[in-house]
Amino acid sequence: MSESTTEKIIEPRRQVYVRRRGRMTKGQERALETLREAYCVDAAKVRLADLFDNDNDLGLEIGFGMGHATAHWAALRPDMNLLGIEVYEPGIGALLLSLEEQSLANVRVIEGDARVLLEEWVPEGALAQINLFFPDPWPKKRHASRRIVQHDTVELYASRLRPGGTLRIATDWEPYAQWILECVDANPNLQNMAGGYAERAEERPVTNFEARGIRLGHGVWDFCYERRG
Ligand SMILES: C[S@@+](CC[C@H](N)C(=O)[O-])C[C@H]1O[C@@H](n2cnc3c(N)ncnc32)[C@H](O)[C@@H]1O
Repeated sequence: MSESTTEKIIEPRRQVYVRRRGRMTKGQERALETLREAYCVDAAKVRLADLFDNDNDLGLEIGFGMGHATAHWAALRPDMNLLGIEVYEPGIGALLLSLEEQSLANVRVIEGDARVLLEEWVPEGALAQINLFFPDPWPKKRHASRRIVQHDTVELYASRLRPGGTLRIATDWEPYAQWILECVDANPNLQNMAGGYAERAEERPVTNFEARGIRLGHGVWDFCYERRG
């Protein structure tokens, strides 16, 4: 690594969202042991600009869970580079398995707090798209400040998108949907491309969980914003 590259690396200082361990399958455990090196990136050691050896557009998925949408997006858009950030280890293992099974080479994974990484490691205007699917709704009023959609985080997302870049969000919790609409619409740097709720993004597959919800009459609300130039 060159000296100038080393200088530009910003080491994420704090982890606001605590790493979550959980029950893991044997396959996920094996994936974490054998595939981490191939797909996972240590933000303290590498610059975002050096993650891929091409200049393709870069998309980010925040809190990818088990990685179903990430793998789907990667297969749908081989012309894009994708970065997934998650703190849930079994989910990271599950995504690594999918990447290996589907031979998807256009994804890198970071284990860490998305907010800290965006603030300290992702340069302004670096991203063509941010996907935030079914973020934790924190339904109790006293926990609302933990939501990952807040005025300041939305400003952070907007600043990391390049002009014309897209912010996609989806939630299945109606009060959160109303909050997202109010909060993101209020950001002067983002334009609501649907004028209200949007159609489901192509890169968001319908999971079994969502299909069951739809059968039970539950709603899902999608959002599509564009970074103003
Ligand atoms: C409700 S789950 C949704 C997972 C997935 N997007 C889906 O649609 O199934 C929310 C996920 O976001 C992750 N998460 C929450 N806050 C995060 C943060 N600050 N940085 C990275 N991941 C985060 C959680 O670990 C969890 O896996």
